[in-house]
Amino acid sequence: MRLLHAFLLIACVSEDLSFPQAFASPVNTGGPSSFTYNRTNFLLNGMPYQIIGGQMDPQRVPPQYWRDRLKKARAMGLNTIFSYVFWNMLEPQQGNWVNTGENNIAGFFRIAEEEQLKIVLRPGPYICGERDWGGFPAWLAGVPGLVVRDYNAPFMQASRRFIERLAVDIRELQSTRGGPILMVQVENEYGSYGRDHNYTSALLDILRTTFDNGTVFYTNDGSEDWTLEGGSVPGVLAEIDGGVMGFDALERYITDPSQKGPLLDGEYYTFTADIWGPSNPHNSPGSGTIAGFVSDLDYVLGNKSVSISLYMFHGGTNFGFSNGALWQDQTRVWTSSYDYGAPLDESGRITDSYNAIRQTIQKYVEVGSIPDVPLNLPMMEVPEFKLQPVIQLFETLGKNTLAEFPMSMEALGQDYGFTLYENIITWPVSGSIQPGGHARDRVIIYVNGNRIGIIDSEYKNPPAVNVSLGIGDKLQLFVENLGRVNYYSRGTPYQNRVTDPYKGIVGNVTIGGIVLQDWSMFTLPLADISFVDNIVGDAVEAANTSQNTPVFYRGCFNVTKEFSDLMELDTYLAIPAGVKGNVWVNGFNLGRYWRVGPQQSLYLPGTLLKPGDENQVVVLELEPDRVKGEMVGKGLAQREWGNNLDEDCLTCT
Ligand SMILES: *[C@@H]1O[C@H](CO)[C@@H](O)[C@H](O)[C@H]1NC(C)=O
Ligand SMILES: *[C@@H]1O[C@H](CO)[C@@H](O)[C@H](O)[C@H]1NC(C)=O
Ligand SMILES: *[C@@H]1O[C@H](CO)[C@@H](O)[C@H](O)[C@H]1NC(C)=O
Ligand SMILES: *[C@@H]1O[C@H](CO)[C@@H](O)[C@H](O)[C@H]1NC(C)=O
Ligand SMILES: *[C@@H]1O[C@H](CO)[C@@H](O)[C@H](O)[C@H]1NC(C)=O
Ligand SMILES: *[C@@H]1O[C@H](CO)[C@@H](O)[C@H](O)[C@H]1NC(C)=O
Ligand SMILES: *[C@@H]1O[C@H](CO)[C@@H](O)[C@H](O)[C@H]1NC(C)=O
Ligand SMILES: *[C@@H]1O[C@H](CO)[C@@H](O)[C@H](O)[C@H]1NC(C)=O
Repeated sequence: MRLLHAFLLIACVSEDLSFPQAFASPVNTGGPSSFTYNRTNFLLNGMPYQIIGGQMDPQRVPPQYWRDRLKKARAMGLNTIFSYVFWNMLEPQQGNWVNTGENNIAGFFRIAEEEQLKIVLRPGPYICGERDWGGFPAWLAGVPGLVVRDYNAPFMQASRRFIERLAVDIRELQSTRGGPILMVQVENEYGSYGRDHNYTSALLDILRTTFDNGTVFYTNDGSEDWTLEGGSVPGVLAEIDGGVMGFDALERYITDPSQKGPLLDGEYYTFTADIWGPSNPHNSPGSGTIAGFVSDLDYVLGNKSVSISLYMFHGGTNFGFSNGALWQDQTRVWTSSYDYGAPLDESGRITDSYNAIRQTIQKYVEVGSIPDVPLNLPMMEVPEFKLQPVIQLFETLGKNTLAEFPMSMEALGQDYGFTLYENIITWPVSGSIQPGGHARDRVIIYVNGNRIGIIDSEYKNPPAVNVSLGIGDKLQLFVENLGRVNYYSRGTPYQNRVTDPYKGIVGNVTIGGIVLQDWSMFTLPLADISFVDNIVGDAVEAANTSQNTPVFYRGCFNVTKEFSDLMELDTYLAIPAGVKGNVWVNGFNLGRYWRVGPQQSLYLPGTLLKPGDENQVVVLELEPDRVKGEMVGKGLAQREWGNNLDEDCLTCT
C-alpha cells in the first residue's frame, strides 16, 4: 500500500527527530536538594523558585512518546510537570500491582528529570481528571463497608496500601533524595465534595508516614469560601485552581497561618475536555481566549513570587473504556479524546496556544534558557481499507449467571464494557420498560433479536420504550457502561453519585410496573478480543448485518517502513460509515466512536503499529443496520471534528 504522506516527509528529514529513545537508566541524581517555602516564595536550595508548571498524566500517553512531550514542555518554557496517577490502572485487581508500560510512573519522572523538569505529584487517591470514577479501581465497589473519599476503615486501608506501594516505586525520586518530586498534593479538590477534616487528616497521616520527612504537601481547591474551608488541611499549604483571580479568595478565606504560603494556581485551565453529544462542539481556544491566557500569564509571571500550572499542558487519550462521566440528571460522557484544546494536542503536536504561551514565558525567564522547539513529526494517511462483518456479538457470549433479580455489573465481577440481561417472558406484560432506577448508562432493547428501542441516560428525558410481550418472548437489555462519574460538587444535589458507581442494571426491571424475574446475565468486558481474529471459515458467514444486534467487523492495513525500521507515524483512524462502537488495533482498545461527535476519529499512535507488516483492526458496531454505506476504516493526517444528529434519539432532550 502506498502511504500518502510524501509532502509531510519533507519536514521530517531532520536530526532533531530523535525519539523514540529507550529509557535511560536511573540518573545519578546527586545529593539531596531542599524544597521548602516561606510566606512569599517556594525555595529550592534556598533560592526563590517560581513554578511554571503544566499538567500531563503519563498514563494517558504512550510511554514511547513521553520524552517527546516532555521536551516540548521544557521548550514551551515550563520548569515543572504536574501529574495525576490513576490508581485503577496501577492496581486493576486488588493486590495486583502493574507498573510497566504506561504505568511506569517512576520511568516517566526520570525522563522528566533528564529533561530538566521538576515534578509535582498528585496521587489522589481520588483524582477526578475526567477518568472513570475519578481514578478509583472498580473493585473498590465490591469491598464491604467501603465508602470512597470518606473516613472509614476499608477505604483508608485500601488507600494506605495504594500510597505505600506507589511510594516504593518513586521513593528515590523525592527531592529529599536529590530527585525531581518537589511537592505532593493531598486529595484533590476535596472541598468541592466534602468537609470531613478527619478524613483529610487521616490521608495526610498516610502521606506523611510514607514520604520522607521534609516533603512539602499542599491542597488544591476551588476559590470559594466553602471549597477552601472544606478542602484545606491544618499544617498543609492551601492553594487554589481556576482563574488567577482566585488568589484573592485564597488570601481572604485561608487565615490559619499553618496553611499560608506562596501563591500557586494549581490548575489554570488551558481549555476543557469534550463531551459526546450531537450539539456539543469540540472545545479549543480561539485567538481571543489565547490572548486571555497571555494576559493572565503576564500577570502571574511578572510577579516572581506567584506560581502556576497549566491544566492541561498535554491531555492525551482516554484509551479503551477509561473515560469518566458527569451526572447532572443526565450522563455527560467524556470523549475518548482528551485533546482538551491544550497547547500540545492529543497527538503531541504544537498548537497556536503553545506558541503564544511560549512567547509569553520567554519574556520572563533568562534569555536562552528555553530550548528550541522540537519539530512535530508528520502524521500519516492510511488509504481506505475494508471492514468485513465477522460475527454477531451475541453469538460470542460466554457463561451466563442466573438470578431471580438482575445483578449489577460489579456484582457480576465486571469492571468495564457491556452487560447483557436476558429474560424469557412467562406471563403477558405490556407498558413501558424501566431498566432499574435509571439507565446505566445506555440500554439497547431487543425483543426476539430485534432492536426495538434505546434508553440513553445521556438525555434528561429519554422517551419511554413501550412493549407488549407474550409468553416465550425473549427480552434482551444490552447495557453499555459509558464511564463512572468522576466529579460532583457539594453545590449540586448529585453528591451521592460518588458512592454509587454501579453499572449495568441496579434495581428491578419492570414492564408496566410488573417486576420481571429469572434473569440470565452475560458479562462482556471485551478486555481480550483476540477471538475475533481467530474466527475463520464458515463462522465468518455467521455475521448477518441485516439483523440489528451488534456485529464485530475486522480488517487490516499494512504500513510500509518508510519512516523507520522501528516505528510508524501516527494517524487519526476514522470509521466514516459507523454509528457507534469501539475500535481495537492489534488488540489494543483505542476507544469509542460515535457519529454524533464531536470526536470523529480516534488517535492511533504509531507505537501500536507494526512497520512493514499487517495491522489488525477490529470494530464492534452496535447498530450495524444503521451504518451509512460501506464499513471501511481509514487513517487521516488531518483531524476533523464535527457533529451529527443522533438518529437513535431524534426527539430526546
Ligand atoms: C522568602 O525567601 C526569599 C528568598 O530568601 C526572600 O527574598 C523573601 O523575602 C522571603 N519571604 C519572607 C516573607 O520571608
Ligand atoms: C472527627 O473525629 C472526632 C473525634 O473522633 C469526632 O468527634 C468527630 O465527630 C469527627 N468528625 C466527623 C465529621 O466525622
Ligand atoms: C521522620 O521523623 C520521625 C520523627 O521525627 C521519625 O520517627 C521517622 O523515622 C522519620 N522518617 C524518615 C523516613 O526519616
Ligand atoms: C505579587 O503578588 C503578591 C501576592 O498577591 C503581592 O502581595 C505583591 O504585591 C505582588 N508583587 C508585584 C510586584 O506585583
Ligand atoms: C408508554 O406507556 C405509558 C404507560 O406505561 C404511557 O403513558 C405512554 O403514553 C406510552 N408511550 C407511548 C409512546 O406509547
Ligand atoms: C425487586 O422486586 C422484588 C419482588 O417485588 C422485591 O422483593 C425486591 O425488593 C425488589 N428489588 C429491588 C432492588 O427493588
Ligand atoms: C439475516 O437476518 C434477517 C433479518 O433478521 C433474516 O431475514 C435473514 O434470513 C437472515 N439471513 C441469514 C442468512 O440468516
Ligand atoms: C501485509 O503484510 C503481510 C505480513 O507481512 C504480508 O503477508 C502481506 O502480503 C502484506 N500485504 C500487502 C498488501 O502488502
